[in-house]
Amino acid sequence: MNYNKKSVEDIDVRGKRVLCRCDFNVPTKGGVITSDKRIVAALPTIQYLVKHGARVILCSHMGKPKNGPDPAFSLQVVADRLSELLGQPVKMAKDVVGESAQSLAASLKDGEVMLLENTRFEKGETKNDPELSRKLASLADIFVNDAFGTAHRAHASTALIAEYFPSDKMFGYVMEGELKAIDKVLKDPARPFTAILGGSKVSTKISVIENLLKLVNNLILGGGMTYTFKAALGGKVGDSLLEADWESYANEMVEKAKEKGVKLLLPVDTVIADAFSPDANSKVVKSGEIPAGWQGLDIGPETVKLYCDAVADAGTVIWNGPMGVF
Ligand code: 3PG
Repeated sequence: MNYNKKSVEDIDVRGKRVLCRCDFNVPTKGGVITSDKRIVAALPTIQYLVKHGARVILCSHMGKPKNGPDPAFSLQVVADRLSELLGQPVKMAKDVVGESAQSLAASLKDGEVMLLENTRFEKGETKNDPELSRKLASLADIFVNDAFGTAHRAHASTALIAEYFPSDKMFGYVMEGELKAIDKVLKDPARPFTAILGGSKVSTKISVIENLLKLVNNLILGGGMTYTFKAALGGKVGDSLLEADWESYANEMVEKAKEKGVKLLLPVDTVIADAFSPDANSKVVKSGEIPAGWQGLDIGPETVKLYCDAVADAGTVIWNGPMGVF
């Protein structure tokens, strides 16, 4: 692998307090977890730490609480499910870095597991606040980052915290597995290599598009960004999402794809609606023929078929971003 990061197996964790940032941002309904996939995914790292005698302090965010501690966003449900899956108690702290977290962390024994409250109960979390990172770090001797799903967020428990563990930090198995997978895909993909790229804006995908054009055989585009491509190619996009400033860039990318022999697939039909609302009127039209007063919100059935055929032949598929509004 081409990254210089330690794995959980590279540091002796016995008797050490290990702070492990997981992504326990699980969906819940009426206080019940509706998918425990992320908790299950975190088990191998936690089980390794337990088996090797670490004192395990887990932390995560869940949802988007805006006003500090809120029982509706408590990680207690995660602690309960994790206890069942691990077959041992998971002690739940009443706060993130307060008295409860500190005293539980200090009293942990080798092989025991505790969970801090939702990191977003602290205002400093989403601000990547050094003081919160410092307080979190002070709970432990070693830091493990296993929160791949949150790796795009520069938050106090995911980003700055690593600075407080100059050498005693490592990746968990979730993070490592994802990095190995992307490393293989980038270095030695089975071909044809097809990338599906969706999302709303061209402006946020520029470097991804440019890099993918160097690697893939087929690039399938969907989502809001395709209306900028269609407009650049002379189509009518009605009231669809449009980044007029990026039309020349879109043209450039179309030309670049041709030069590189990359097959660039754009929608051929589009589901349009007369409002951005579940009650709106909707219909399917040819892409590039969207009347004024209507906006494109999804790929149409012909496009679905076209894209399915392109994916069916692929040796490798990577996918980023949705094809339509959801
Ligand atoms: C996710 O589910 O995408 C991650 O856990 C990040 O969650 P967030 O969008 O609330 O930051």
